[in-house]
Amino acid sequence: MHNALVDGGAIRKLWIGEIGKYHDHLLRLDPESRRNRFGGAVADAFIENFVKLTVGLDVVIHGFFVDGEMRGAGELRTLGAPDDAEAAFSIEKDWQSHGVGSALLERTLLAARNRGIKQMHMSCLAHNRRMQQLARKFDAELSFDFGSVVGEVEAPFPTPMSVMREVMADSQGFATAELDAQTRMFRRRQPANG
Ligand SMILES: CC(C)(COP(=O)(O)OP(=O)(O)OC[C@H]1O[C@@H](n2cnc3c(N)ncnc32)[C@H](O)[C@@H]1OP(=O)(O)O)[C@@H](O)C(=O)NCCC(=O)NCCS
Repeated sequence: MHNALVDGGAIRKLWIGEIGKYHDHLLRLDPESRRNRFGGAVADAFIENFVKLTVGLDVVIHGFFVDGEMRGAGELRTLGAPDDAEAAFSIEKDWQSHGVGSALLERTLLAARNRGIKQMHMSCLAHNRRMQQLARKFDAELSFDFGSVVGEVEAPFPTPMSVMREVMADSQGFATAELDAQTRMFRRRQPANG
């Protein structure tokens, strides 16, 4: 399980009250990443509405945080049936191709498994090679139909061990965020000339 990543970043679940960080992260995506994330060009107003609608839905969001800023996200949201969900990923350009997407997909798959989700759908544009490569890395747990460019995860059933892995990752994520906040507070208190 990856928790500490590139540039001192870490992956943890988004907490209640932090939805603004998700909003700011999605708005920072460069035009191509934004198109790939939403399956087409979307305006800022679309993202604002999308995030507003996300609050209160059955959604698990994992974030990749660097210095308290969210630079990547993996979103898992249930669809019509409780065992059917959709996952989507977004990494800001400077942090792409550093393994962040892989770590977020691993955590999202674990969350899906522990929630009894049988099918996790991921859609991506036909030209999005990187997302397809990323999905292929998890081919033991995914089945593909690249004709329609949709990957479906056959999430296995939760086990005490898989639940424990999520609990441990959450505790570690909490401790890392606490330390990170304290370090930033400490840095702010340092006099300008040391
Ligand atoms: C697609 C995306 C989620 C992948 O995340 P990432 O952090 O960039 O990917 P990773 O570094 O974990 O790499 C995953 C795999 O993609 C492949 N890959 C990485 N960089 C690549 C590149 N520049 N070109 C092609 N393939 C690449 C590799 O096979 C890699 O696995 P490996 O390093 O073990 O060989 C991310 O690039 C992104 O957010 N893009 C914009 C939004 C998007 O496309 N979302 C997907 C639709 S929901």
